[in-house]
Amino acid sequence: MSEDPKAIIDGAERWWSTSIIDVHPGEIDIRGYPIEQLIGTITFPEMIWLMVRGELPTAGQARLLEAALVASVDHGPHAPSIAISRMAITCGAELNNAMASAINVLGDVHGGAGQQCMEFYQMIRRHAANGRDLEAAVEAALPEYQEKHGKVVGGFGHRWHPVDPRTAPLLGLVEEAAAAGEVTGEYIAIGRAVESVLTRKKSKPIPMNIDGSTAVIFSELGFEPDMGRGLFILSRSVGILSHAWEQKQQGGRIKGPMPKNIPFTYTGTRRRSFDRELDQQKIATAKADRRRA
Ligand SMILES: CC(C)(COP(=O)(O)OP(=O)(O)OC[C@H]1O[C@@H](n2cnc3c(N)ncnc32)[C@H](O)[C@@H]1OP(=O)(O)O)[C@@H](O)C(=O)NCCC(=O)NCCS
Repeated sequence: MSEDPKAIIDGAERWWSTSIIDVHPGEIDIRGYPIEQLIGTITFPEMIWLMVRGELPTAGQARLLEAALVASVDHGPHAPSIAISRMAITCGAELNNAMASAINVLGDVHGGAGQQCMEFYQMIRRHAANGRDLEAAVEAALPEYQEKHGKVVGGFGHRWHPVDPRTAPLLGLVEEAAAAGEVTGEYIAIGRAVESVLTRKKSKPIPMNIDGSTAVIFSELGFEPDMGRGLFILSRSVGILSHAWEQKQQGGRIKGPMPKNIPFTYTGTRRRSFDRELDQQKIATAKADRRRA
């Protein structure tokens, strides 16, 4: 039985449905606002918020989001994603391909600490809802977190920085926003409780790093953990682009991860002469041994 043509057209129109943008000849509306009224009026962080949340942020929310985006842009070529973008350029990749290569390695292991940390904060919040104080809630949530993500808590400790220089200014802004009633301050308290439990357990400071502090901000702003990762990648894309562009200006061809005069470590069979006959004999002997065994 052939379908009613009107039903086919209706179905085709519904194939993609979006509440983000409406486009007609000469008209582009973002979340209902004509684009010409947004251009020159709202900032990029406000635009990001409008796109992903549906409404414009308050000034305080936009300030916090912007601070988190500013703080995460780069951590230098020791970060594999940054190195990859530079190496890709030296292999002749275009900027978009270099950026895609770099972004593709950002996941649970590299760049995923913020999302994991946001999940942990949510777990702690659930445990604290049972009337526990925050540090007890951290202790109660820890096994659940560690079962999912392993023993190390994302967002705390750092390979390079005894104290991450990005944390204090970010948390300072959260405190200001909490005092102004822009956010609740619930997640900064949770983050601090995690820091103090980890530090007590390890008998040495395990301070909150950039992922832990941006996790505080994204959680205070009501973002879900996977969106936290998306926002981090948006920010880090700026660093990835800048390094790709700088490498393009510097030139350089097929640069590997280390200068050629620094050897990698070979762990295989020591150098030996190739003798096909001897080789065949060894294979035949091995086969015979296996048959006998
Ligand atoms: C960066 C990192 C690898 C440093 O670990 P490290 O080199 O072992 O650091 P330390 O020597 O200071 O660790 C001392 C102890 O604290 C533990 N520790 C360190 N960071 C920890 C964390 N975030 N959660 C739980 N335990 C931690 C270590 O496992 C070690 O325990 P051990 O003595 O039982 O082996 C680690 O802190 C980490 O992986 N942090 C989370 C990842 C993250 O947020 N990455 C993004 C960084 S911007």
